[in-house]
Amino acid sequence: MQVTTEHLNLDNTFQGLSADELQAYAAKRLPSNFDEQRKLLLCGEYDNPSEGRKVTHVLNRSRHSVVAAGGGRNRFSEVVRLLRSGKWLGATGKSITDVVNIGVGGSDLGPMMGSFALREFADDNVEHQLDVHFVSSMDGGQLYAVLPIVDPETTLFIIASKSFGTIDTLANVETVKRWIAPALAESAWLEKHVIGVSSNNQAMTEFGIPASQQLSFADSVGGRYSLWSAIGLPIALTIGANQFAKMLDGARFMDEHFGSAPLLENIPLLMALHGVYNREERGLNNVAVLPYDGRLRYLPSYLQQLDMESNGKQQNRAGEPINYPTGPIIWGGFGPNGQHAFFQHLHQGYDDFAADFVAVLHRQAPGFSAAVQEGLISQQRLSVANCLAHRRLMWFGNGDHYPGKHPSNLLYVDELTPQSFGALLAAYEHKVFAQGVIWDINSFDQPGVEHGKKVAKEVLAVLDGEREEAFDDSTDSIIKRM
Ligand code: F6P
Repeated sequence: MQVTTEHLNLDNTFQGLSADELQAYAAKRLPSNFDEQRKLLLCGEYDNPSEGRKVTHVLNRSRHSVVAAGGGRNRFSEVVRLLRSGKWLGATGKSITDVVNIGVGGSDLGPMMGSFALREFADDNVEHQLDVHFVSSMDGGQLYAVLPIVDPETTLFIIASKSFGTIDTLANVETVKRWIAPALAESAWLEKHVIGVSSNNQAMTEFGIPASQQLSFADSVGGRYSLWSAIGLPIALTIGANQFAKMLDGARFMDEHFGSAPLLENIPLLMALHGVYNREERGLNNVAVLPYDGRLRYLPSYLQQLDMESNGKQQNRAGEPINYPTGPIIWGGFGPNGQHAFFQHLHQGYDDFAADFVAVLHRQAPGFSAAVQEGLISQQRLSVANCLAHRRLMWFGNGDHYPGKHPSNLLYVDELTPQSFGALLAAYEHKVFAQGVIWDINSFDQPGVEHGKKVAKEVLAVLDGEREEAFDDSTDSIIKRM
């Protein structure tokens, strides 16, 4: 079956279900209040019961609220304008040339993926080239690479954290403070070189970020759903506020599609139903996400958080234990390179899986000579041909040694644009939502992660010599050695 829309297309022929089978499956699995739940989500009224708030990321896609995040449209757009025009001056009067986004999880994955994917759509009228860098890792691993190539006088740091309390982010910020100390007074740094993006205004204020440099967003926007809010600032800095708004338009297009398209033409709903079918009827516990366009190479990690943090649950919405499988393991990687790495196992290994192929059919190559353009355009064809070939092989197999029967979706766009990119991400968000409704789980909390943070604090206190405590022989021996 093929579903085509203005910004995103789905071919799910290789899921192997006929239209009648799908209708029957939907009748069996979609709860009777599904339409009502979907309406609530799309108007920002869906409940997140364990956190006692509504779910409102969809509201960030409205052109009015865009950028409405962050103390109003004006502040977000103004920050983007000043930085992209070179008019934002650092404490010593020099223009900002580099921006470092410090954040993790939803405060890193979406902005990083979007900035990388959409780079070539930057507004042409920018006079000043900004380099945007990303630092997320708690071990400081990315600071080793970024700090030597930026200058404290011309670098601005975005401290991106919904809670403004995540240890990974705060640890990176503390090291940055040590790094700027020989060059700038902390007060000057805070005043000219820091923007805070958070839903915790009080913590930003206590940290010393001036109100005019605080971009806030609602705490009803989950971290993994936040790239549409002020958390998307690095994307807007890369491509400009207008292009950023086009990404929101694409997501809003998908919201409308999800809300109104009939079942057999509804991309997120079809993705959700096939996913549930694969999980429950075929026993597949994992989905390989395989983008065939290099600009989408970070999509698998982004979807890992979106899906696994949302639907990796063993409790229903009422907080009671459940005894059925929920969200699958999401993994994957850039398809063409995967062909030379893990595809052998996919084709002939023992394990079963489902896959999402993601393809971009056409690509322009402006700015290159005619000969190079021709080469690049033919490379896009090469990539699409490989995508189609491997997808066929995974479904049909090839004789005894290629069992096939691995179901897959093909999500494809004619061209990658900010709109089609926004539509693609929103389709995945709605797939995750619909599956959460089917499985009766709350897709908008992440209690398991919180417990991990608590245990890590206990281990750190012992490593830091602040406390003595025995854990287990293995852990204790490493602590002793350290
Ligand atoms: O991993 C847990 C989590 O809370 C994610 O949901 C979130 O995106 C990430 O940590 C970062 O959180 P924050 O934006 O509050 O720093």
